[in-house]
Amino acid sequence: MKTIDDLGDLRGKRVLVRADLNVPLDGEAITDDGRIRASLPTIRALADRGARVVVCAHLGRPKGEVKPEFSLAPVARRLGELLGKPVAFATDVVGESAQATVAGLADGDVALLENLRFEPGETSKDDAERGAFAEKLAKLADVYVGDGFGAVHRKHASVYDVPKRLPHAAGQLVLAELEVLRRLTEQPQRPYVVVLGGAKVSDKLGVIENLLGLADRIIIGGGMGYTFLKAHGYEVGKSLLEADQVDTVRGYLAEAQKRGVEIVNAIDIMVADDFSPEANTQVVAANAIPAGWQGLDIGPETRKLYADKIVDAKTVFWNGPMGVFEMAPFAEGTRAVAEALTKVDGLTVVGGGDSAAAVRQLGFTDEQFGHISTGGGASLEYLEGKVLPGIEALADSA
Ligand code: 3PG
Ligand code: MG
Repeated sequence: MKTIDDLGDLRGKRVLVRADLNVPLDGEAITDDGRIRASLPTIRALADRGARVVVCAHLGRPKGEVKPEFSLAPVARRLGELLGKPVAFATDVVGESAQATVAGLADGDVALLENLRFEPGETSKDDAERGAFAEKLAKLADVYVGDGFGAVHRKHASVYDVPKRLPHAAGQLVLAELEVLRRLTEQPQRPYVVVLGGAKVSDKLGVIENLLGLADRIIIGGGMGYTFLKAHGYEVGKSLLEADQVDTVRGYLAEAQKRGVEIVNAIDIMVADDFSPEANTQVVAANAIPAGWQGLDIGPETRKLYADKIVDAKTVFWNGPMGVFEMAPFAEGTRAVAEALTKVDGLTVVGGGDSAAAVRQLGFTDEQFGHISTGGGASLEYLEGKVLPGIEALADSA
């Protein structure tokens, strides 16, 4: 894979950078700017080399329509603050504003295009429609740099089709993320502990299957944990349950036993009578969730158990919260796991935009972890062993 250094003299060249600037917003206020910060090294490196830097990115899922609440304008402002210089913002993606903005750049200047997903061609499943949009994007630049790690698992025009049309290289964020993922998959230091949470088992099936051949211990929490409890034969009340996955999970439990992989499930649960921070709550044993109640976090005994199962690790990968951490009464499980990771003497990786935002919201700093990945879906698909379209396109040396 080529790097920026392989691109030669960039002075005066228009460089299109695909970044992942998909940050959480509260109105126009950015509540976690981690992904913008993670994009800075590549943008700075290009600007320092005298390139005319044209950044493109998506925000949310506007589905091919211009929806003002998904505008990247607040992101352009924050990017400018962090870079310490103005960022020219194009109010469209490949139209008159984009063309004029790019034409107005001097060497070392930075521009941001409006949300790629305002254009139906960006996410189209139709190769020709995606290709037609990719042509327009490619016309705005001389060179392409892929640095939007969080989106490399998407076969989208800006991720997959544009690098097929321009000389291209991988940016520093993509290279750093891939390096960490390599350490998680090629001869990881043991014990190797994986902590999986989040809402749905069905999102994690592929990764669990692959990890059974790699990890020593898999700790299960979050909404997906209730399908595991059900597979153990327990009733889960009104908790999240994917009934159609119970048999698959039973298969994993059997397979894990055969391979000597330890799967750790909750032993107690914080249940609530409503999905609300004001709900009545109680702690119950994992095999005694009352009918009509729902589990919204792991319980205190489980917090201790999970911490014990994490602290002796030499490698930890964590994706997905243990409970509904956005509501204070159900944040302690996620906090306990984050806390345990900070005590590990080895490589700790927090995977994903949501998990990263969770640990920052709970008051942890990035420096307390070995690596905070900017891509949840992307890192999970890598760990599943899937080919990532955005990486495939960058690796192609044509
Ligand atoms: C993310 O937030 O996970 C990435 O930016 C990709 O976004 P997407 O899941 O909407 O494709
Ligand atoms: Mg995602």
